[in-house]
Amino acid sequence: MRAHLRVVAELGPRQLAELLVAVVHDGASVGFLPPLPVDQVERYWSGLLAAGVVLLIAETDGRIIGTVQLHLASQPNARHRAEVAKLMVHPAARRQGIGRQLMHEVEAEARRRGRSLLVLDTRAGDPSNELYNVGGLPGGRPHPTLSDSSTRRSSTTRS
Ligand SMILES: CC(C)(COP(=O)(O)OP(=O)(O)OC[C@H]1O[C@@H](n2cnc3c(N)ncnc32)[C@H](O)[C@@H]1OP(=O)(O)O)[C@@H](O)C(=O)NCCC(=O)NCCS
Repeated sequence: MRAHLRVVAELGPRQLAELLVAVVHDGASVGFLPPLPVDQVERYWSGLLAAGVVLLIAETDGRIIGTVQLHLASQPNARHRAEVAKLMVHPAARRQGIGRQLMHEVEAEARRRGRSLLVLDTRAGDPSNELYNVGGLPGGRPHPTLSDSSTRRSSTTRS
């Protein structure tokens, strides 16, 4: 499937909220824990477009089915660097190439903005590790843990 990809400066927080809730309730590690109230998520999206965050969305038939963020480092000695964050594809749209399409486009967007080093965190063992390996990112290494709940911890890898 080919999606239409674009950078957005203004958001429809409801559709993005629905995407994030679906992805988190499906078990993804993207910074939130279920149960996730929609109004909390809408506030998150509304406040996101602070300076230095580029938001890319993937749409088919006018519906948002995926997204990824590029956080541009602002430190004077880090203007070559950006972090890729919150890559997510709706559970019903997976394994159709949308994640790969978003990663290609976010890399192109980073290059256009003069960023030559991309970093990202992902939970060790998740499908995203396969996607990043296929995309040619160098293998990650574990670093301090994420919290899946108040009691459970997962390692992460940094690529
Ligand atoms: C990771 C994620 C974005 C992948 O999106 P997607 O649209 O399904 O990925 P694609 O269809 O583009 O897959 C590209 C390649 O990645 C690998 N891959 C993706 N999902 C995989 C899975 N579940 N198992 C094994 N390999 C997988 C495959 O090599 C695949 O190529 P193929 O289908 O030709 O074999 C999606 O699973 C997701 O949203 N996960 C939850 C959020 C998350 O964990 N995000 C990462 C945060 S860092």
